[in-house]
Amino acid sequence: MDAFCYQDDLLVAEQVSLESIAARFGTPTYVYSRAVIETQYDAFAQALAIHPAHLICYAVKANSNLAVLDLLARRGAGFDIVSGGELARVLSVSADPQRIVFSGVAKSAADIVTALDAGILCFNVESEAELERLQTIAAQRGAEAAVSIRVNPDVDAESHPYISTGLRDNKFGVEIGAAGALYAHAATLPNIRVRGIDCHIGSQLTSLTPFVDALDRVLALVDQLRERGIVLEHVDVGGGLGVCYRDEQPPSPQAYAAALLSRLGPRRLSLITEPGRVIVARAGILLTRVEYLKRNGERRFALVDAGMNDLIRPSLYGAWMGIESVRRNARAEPALYDVVGPVCESSDFLGKERLLALTAGDLLAVSGAGAYSFVMSSNYNSRARPAEVMVDRGTAYLVRARESFADLVRGENLLPPDA
Ligand code: LLP
Repeated sequence: MDAFCYQDDLLVAEQVSLESIAARFGTPTYVYSRAVIETQYDAFAQALAIHPAHLICYAVKANSNLAVLDLLARRGAGFDIVSGGELARVLSVSADPQRIVFSGVAKSAADIVTALDAGILCFNVESEAELERLQTIAAQRGAEAAVSIRVNPDVDAESHPYISTGLRDNKFGVEIGAAGALYAHAATLPNIRVRGIDCHIGSQLTSLTPFVDALDRVLALVDQLRERGIVLEHVDVGGGLGVCYRDEQPPSPQAYAAALLSRLGPRRLSLITEPGRVIVARAGILLTRVEYLKRNGERRFALVDAGMNDLIRPSLYGAWMGIESVRRNARAEPALYDVVGPVCESSDFLGKERLLALTAGDLLAVSGAGAYSFVMSSNYNSRARPAEVMVDRGTAYLVRARESFADLVRGENLLPPDA
């Protein structure tokens, strides 16, 4: 489903004109479609519904706006969190703690305490040292921590190196060959309950093969553990299903679910997934305005009011994201533009060599900006972060106000004048 489409020559978001959103809320502004988020979630849930026991734990890091989390909680989603901040967010929208899994390679003691007290479903443990910390904290609190061990199956996700996580030489998980011994140790710890196993091999995967290879390796370990008397209740396969930004052809949620479930076979295991991008990426755009056009040598630049601090994916990963004119401009000649922001860095670009017909003042929409976009924004160059708007059946709601100067300097103090 695409909620962002042209009506005549004007790009709309679920019937609401993006021009009207810019006029009302200013730019840059993120605009999300409720319908796309819900349609994507439902497609995922329906695809997995053929398995009697499954839980979708939406990866909060992809887009953690409270309105987004609330919509997903209302649909019964669980959540994959990586920090105390994300835990507080999901609890504030009344998420069921028994549908929360806690991932992350360096969980702090304070975050472990909060999650334990909240009664979450499972800690996805990444190392022996973390397991010991969990045991100590759970014992101090007279509690039991349910755990899954994140194994690193040594599978190449064939994605960008910065977002591939399943190869032996990166920081994530426990080497699969060493995981058996760690499970045996975990089973002896009095305040630890061994519940499951998990892996996450990377993000923006466009082929099923790495998912299936990783799951096969994980299931082989599950079977070995069972023979040793360690019976697991669930397998958590992480997230990673890709979306189309340009011309990628990622598998559908149906194909993904069918591939995973066929490997699970008759084992009595519940399946947990942690999708992030596939739920929200196509549900958002970044609305930005052209401030100036200029030419340096052979290159033409469109200088826009959104920068790498607002949307860092192009600068950080060389990610290609679509850029379109909000109103098709018949007055200007199409030309190749580098669409660049106001930040003082040469890596501050949203797109390069894009064929656009532009006049200063035009609005542009960067597509696929529902995932890993606002959440990765910063205040670099003392730029206030953008507003976030959710469109729902013809109405636009402000779901996060644009930051103000007061927000920028909150918590900062001068030294006393006599210091
Ligand atoms: N589970 C774990 C343990 C993860 O680390 C991640 C993402 C997910 C689930 C969700 O993966 P997804 O379904 O969204 O692929 N900032 C990068 C992506 C980083 C992904 C980090 N981990 C980007 O903008 O492409």
